[in-house]
Amino acid sequence: MSNPIRTAGRLFEAKEVIEEALLASVRTLSGPAHLKEAMSYSLLAGGKRLRPLLMLAAADLHGMVWERVLPFAVSLEMIHTYSLIHDDLPAMDNDDLRRGKPTNHVVFGEAMAILAGDALLTEAFVSLGASLQKEPQGAKALAYLGKAAGTSGMIGGQVMDLSATSRKISLEELKILHARKTGALIQAAVLLPAILHDAPAEEIAFLEAFSSDLGLLFQIQDDCLDETSDEITLGKTCGKDARDKKSTFVSLLGLSEALAYRATLSERLCGSLSSFGEEAALLREVTEAIIGRTH
Ligand code: IPE
Ligand code: IPE
Ligand code: MG
Ligand code: MG
Ligand code: MG
Repeated sequence: MSNPIRTAGRLFEAKEVIEEALLASVRTLSGPAHLKEAMSYSLLAGGKRLRPLLMLAAADLHGMVWERVLPFAVSLEMIHTYSLIHDDLPAMDNDDLRRGKPTNHVVFGEAMAILAGDALLTEAFVSLGASLQKEPQGAKALAYLGKAAGTSGMIGGQVMDLSATSRKISLEELKILHARKTGALIQAAVLLPAILHDAPAEEIAFLEAFSSDLGLLFQIQDDCLDETSDEITLGKTCGKDARDKKSTFVSLLGLSEALAYRATLSERLCGSLSSFGEEAALLREVTEAIIGRTH
């Protein structure tokens, strides 16, 4: 975990740091072994880690050492993983494949999957305790993270997603739905380092606009991949959005218009990044990985 910034191999280094920290976070858990096993099963199942990677990349922008944001990166990945476990439940998307493996409820049963999700959410905040005490802007960061995960963020978006099933919604409504269910956690990844660093308001506004485009692009890509990819590549079931009559960019605009929308956003994102220097090297790499992702 070194500053000043070396660009070569930095993405690889960031991934290693994140995997190590996630492993450490489950090792320190106490409580029933079966619960710990269910939590570890999903948390350590090898997701792309894009949110924690974005957070380390955003820390680089402010010249912050990764150690400072790492507890938040772990918390965010825990919250994201809990959202996936619950998203896959029979009462929600009823999926049996996630991260290339049987979903949590398929392996551990529905009750344990609900509790493993609850526990990941809870431990996400418990694990922040020590680092918050050292951070002057810790309370602000904590509130931002909670809001991103809550009723006006991810959970609110999931509720909108459920109520937009089997019904045509407007493009504006769909953008709000995506901004909440997916965009909010991605926005938190980019903004939390800036908040901890007490960055000026204009930097915060710039990063909010950037991450809002990135979050929308991310979910449009998810919608397109559900339509065009295969289970082996994606590590999750495909074609489910159409089968379940979900409101997605593909169902609303059609595949080619959805892809065109994604291209417009990706041009705008690359344009925004061109105003940065060497400090944005990792953010550029992670953004390109998100734009070009195939799974
Ligand atoms: C999947 O997120 C859920 C959405 C918000 C679309 P990711 O595609 O980041 O999933 P993992 O973490 O790599 O498994
Ligand atoms: C879910 O969106 C986003 C979450 C908040 C978990 P999707 O339902 O489209 O995610 P996938 O396709 O199952 O990963
Ligand atoms: Mg869903
Ligand atoms: Mg789903
Ligand atoms: Mg999807």
